Amino acid sequence: MPGAVYSGRGALRKIREITEGRFKKAALFTDRGVEQAGLLKIPLEILNEAGVETVVITDLPAEPNCDEAEQVMERFRRTGADFIVAAGGGSVMDVAKLASITADGSLTVRQLLEDPGLGRKCVPTLMIPTTAGTGSEATMNSIVAVPEKQLKVGIVNPEMIPDYVILDGSLLKNLPRKIAAATGVDAMAHAVECFTSNKANPFSNLFAKEAAKLIFDNIEAACEDPEAEEAKTNMLIAAFYAGAAISSSGTTAVHALSYPLGGKYHIPHGVSNAMLLLPVMRFNKSACLKEFAELYDTVVGKELQITDEEKADRLLKRMEEIIRRLEIPSSLSTFGIGTDALEELVNAGMDVKRLLNNNKREITHEDARRLYLEVMHG
Ligand SMILES: NC(=O)c1ccc[n+]([C@@H]2O[C@H](COP(=O)([O-])OP(=O)(O)OC[C@H]3O[C@@H](n4cnc5c(N)ncnc54)[C@H](O)[C@@H]3O)[C@@H](O)[C@H]2O)c1
Ligand SMILES: [Zn+2]
Repeated sequence: MPGAVYSGRGALRKIREITEGRFKKAALFTDRGVEQAGLLKIPLEILNEAGVETVVITDLPAEPNCDEAEQVMERFRRTGADFIVAAGGGSVMDVAKLASITADGSLTVRQLLEDPGLGRKCVPTLMIPTTAGTGSEATMNSIVAVPEKQLKVGIVNPEMIPDYVILDGSLLKNLPRKIAAATGVDAMAHAVECFTSNKANPFSNLFAKEAAKLIFDNIEAACEDPEAEEAKTNMLIAAFYAGAAISSSGTTAVHALSYPLGGKYHIPHGVSNAMLLLPVMRFNKSACLKEFAELYDTVVGKELQITDEEKADRLLKRMEEIIRRLEIPSSLSTFGIGTDALEELVNAGMDVKRLLNNNKREITHEDARRLYLEVMHG
């Protein structure tokens, strides 16, 4: 778990307490979208007040591949910074986490892909998520695309767990609805997948259930209303909890089948998961009835008179309603992907064994083909 987590109104001010007298030079990782949304002004002011010199690294690509990430590592090393601050979504945080374990120059990102356990934390990190979200601020994962595999691959190493986290809903005020919706459903997928994973356990279940409740209660308001700061903060906390669930459980077939859609076709991570969440969970229903019923009890409230099967159906229906209302693209054809791509997708998706092994119901090539076909035309 991260060393210290601050949340709520004014949480950004904690930057001073975290850094003052402790660090000399910070590298602030971010991207153009976050910069243009005007979100760097306050963190930069506070770092300045704390007497910490700051170098801003802004030109991070969205959902980077391993070679793009490597270029950022080189730039970061030249700064000589002794502290890393990441202000952004999962793309920014994942690159910053890699920088924290490659700062001494002894490792490349490609070496980490081969043997993720090699890296050791050299520079401490503060994560300030601006989407809610990937939960990367709570996990030991960094996800990069690998061009020749046409897949996204997770580098998993506990040394990447952040040292400090700030969850401040004010940063999400102007997050475009489209991005808020897709990233919010990504967090929903994390919670539901972790709760129904073969790796689920009492520790991860605590976080997954709390995350699911907060998400079902807040996602619509957080996406629709720029002024709904409390709902946005609740979504940030939920995404963080769902990230904590990932670290001790793991995502399942939704994320597995989603990886080639990001790796080859560059469909945003949240969008590809939102497309696959319902088809995969309907497929999983027979193997996850008890878990779905328990989640229904958690997010909707206990209704003792109905069967587990009815609870599962109602939970899935509620998820479908939310995803439809948020108007997230629901078909691969929207992204120009047709049936000619099917076999390649099936083979690449079935290669993500790290996550498929977590899925309670075994998935065959034929099942994966049916699932991709189901989302081909929405
Ligand atoms: N490490 C993990 O545990 C983990 C978990 C899930 C996903 N991921 C990875 O995270 C990446 C996706 O991250 P993401 O979904 O957060 O999106 P993202 O970081 O790619 O950001 C999406 C867009 O939103 C913009 N943006 C972000 N915050 C904003 C704000 N507050 N206001 C305005 N614009 C804003 C960004 O500039 C960017 O253009 C993927 O690479 C995915 O694989 C990592
Ligand atoms: Zn995800």
